[in-house]
Amino acid sequence: MRRAFGVAAALAALLAAGAAVGQGAGVKKRRPLPQEYGRVVLDNHSTASRMAPVAFDHWLHRARFTCRLCHVDVGFAMKAGATDVRAADNQRGFYCGACHDRKTVFDGKKLFGACGPGTAGESCARCHSVGKQVTPEVDFTAFTRGLPRGRFGNGVDWEQAEEQGLIRPADHLEGVSIARKPMTAQKDFALSPKLVEMPEIVFSHKKHTVWNGCELCHPDIFVGVKRGSTRYSMAEIFEGKYCGVCHATVAFPTTDCQRCHTRPVQ
Ligand code: HEC
Ligand code: HEC
Ligand code: HEC
Ligand code: HEC
Ligand code: HEC
Ligand code: HEC
Repeated sequence: MRRAFGVAAALAALLAAGAAVGQGAGVKKRRPLPQEYGRVVLDNHSTASRMAPVAFDHWLHRARFTCRLCHVDVGFAMKAGATDVRAADNQRGFYCGACHDRKTVFDGKKLFGACGPGTAGESCARCHSVGKQVTPEVDFTAFTRGLPRGRFGNGVDWEQAEEQGLIRPADHLEGVSIARKPMTAQKDFALSPKLVEMPEIVFSHKKHTVWNGCELCHPDIFVGVKRGSTRYSMAEIFEGKYCGVCHATVAFPTTDCQRCHTRPVQ
C-alpha cells in the first residue's frame, strides 16, 4: 500500500511539474491546436525591420523531409530563435533559401522564394505571416485526414505514417547534402526508470534513426558512447531536456505517457 501510494504521489508531482512547464511558470497557456503544435515563430529581425514575424510549421515540413536533413545538412538549430536567420542568408540560398529559392521543384511546382529581391511579386506574407490573415496553400485538416491518428501533438501518429509509407520524408537535398555512408542502426534497448514500479521504456534506435540519423542525438543530447552514461529524470524531460528536446516540441509530446512507458505495471 505504502509503495503504491509513493508511486501515485511521485506521478502526481511529476504531472504537476509537467503541467507547470506546459503552462509556463504560472501563466495559463492553452494547449496548442493540432495545427499549431511544432510551430516556431522567428522574430530576431523581422519586427525590427517592420516585417511581420515568420511562422515556421513543422507538420508540413516534417512530412516532406527528415529532421536530420534540416537540422544537420541545412543547419537549423534545435532551439527556437537560435539559428539567427537573416534575409541575406535566405537570398544566398542558405536556411529557408536552401529550398525556397524559386528553382527547387517540389511536386512538379517551383517553390516560392524567400526574402527577395526578385520576389516582390510574391507574397512575403506566406512566411511573414504572424498576425496576418493568410490562407496557406496546404490545408492542415485536408492533409492529415488520411494519416493514422495520434492522441496528442499534431493528432497524427507520424511514426506509423512513415512506417506505412503514407509519407516519405526525404533525407537528401541536391546541392546541400553530401553523400554519406549509411550508418548501421544500434540495437533497440529498454531503459529502466529509477522507480521500480514504473513500466519499462523501450527505446528504438531503428525507429529514431529514420528521422534523426545519429547526429541529432549524439553527442549533443546524449553522449551515448555507453548506455547509462547519460543520467536523466522525468522532471528534466518535462523541462525539455534529453528526450524532451524533441518530445516537448515537435515529436509526440510528453503528455502521451503510455507511448514511452509501454510495459504494464506488475
Ligand atoms: C524544413 C526544415 C525542418 C525540418 C524537416 C525539421 N525542422 Fe525542426 N526546426 C526547423 C526550423 C527552421 C526551426 C527553428 C530554428 C530557429 O528558430 O533558429 C526548428 C526548430 C526545432 C526545434 C526547437 C523548437 C523549440 O520550440 O525550441 C526542435 C526541437 C526541432 N526543430 C526538432 C525537429 C524534429 C524532431 C524534426 C523531425 C521530426 C524536425 N525538427 C524537422 C526546421 C526543420
Ligand atoms: C528542405 C527544404 C525546405 C526548407 C529548408 C524550408 N522549406 Fe518551407 N516548404 C518546403 C516545401 C517542399 C514546401 C511545400 C510543401 C507542400 O506543398 O506540400 C514548403 C512550404 C512552406 C510554407 C507553406 C506555404 C503555403 O502556402 O502553404 C511555408 C510558410 C514555408 N514553407 C516556410 C518556410 C520557412 C519560414 C522556412 C525557413 C525557416 C522554410 N520554409 C524552410 C521546403 C522547405
Ligand atoms: C520562405 C519564407 C520567407 C519568405 C517568403 C520571405 N521571408 Fe523574409 N525572412 C524569413 C526568415 C526566416 C527571416 C528571419 C526571421 C527573423 O528572425 O526575424 C526573414 C527575415 C526578413 C527580414 C529581416 C531583416 C534581416 O536582415 O534579416 C526582412 C527585411 C525580410 N525577411 C524581407 C522579406 C521580404 C521583403 C519578403 C518578400 C519579398 C520576404 N522577406 C519573404 C523568411 C521568409
Ligand atoms: C533520438 C535520439 C537518438 C538517436 C537518433 C540515436 N541514438 Fe544512440 N542512443 C540514444 C540514447 C538515449 C542512448 C542511451 C544513452 C544513455 O542512456 O546514456 C543511446 C546509446 C547509444 C550507444 C551506446 C549503446 C549501448 O548499448 O551502450 C551507441 C553506440 C549509439 N547510441 C549509437 C547510435 C548510432 C550509431 C545512431 C545512428 C544510427 C544513433 N545512436 C542514433 C539516443 C539516440
Ligand atoms: C532528436 C529528437 C528526438 C529525441 C531526442 C528523442 N526522440 Fe523519440 N521520436 C522522435 C521522432 C521524430 C519520433 C517519430 C514520431 C513522432 O514524431 O511523433 C519519435 C518516436 C518515438 C517513439 C515512438 C516510436 C517507437 O519507438 O515505437 C518513442 C516510444 C520515443 N520516440 C521515445 C523516446 C525516448 C524514450 C527518448 C529519450 C531516451 C526519445 N524518444 C528521444 C524524436 C526524438
Ligand atoms: C518521450 C518519452 C517519455 C514520455 C512521453 C514520458 N516519459 Fe516518463 N520517463 C521517460 C524516461 C526516458 C525516463 C527515465 C528512464 C531512466 O531513469 O533511465 C522516465 C522516467 C519516468 C519516471 C521515473 C522517475 C523519474 O523521475 O525518472 C516516472 C514516474 C515517469 N517517467 C512518469 C511519466 C508520466 C506520468 C508521463 C506522462 C505525463 C511520462 N512519464 C511520459 C520517458 C518518457
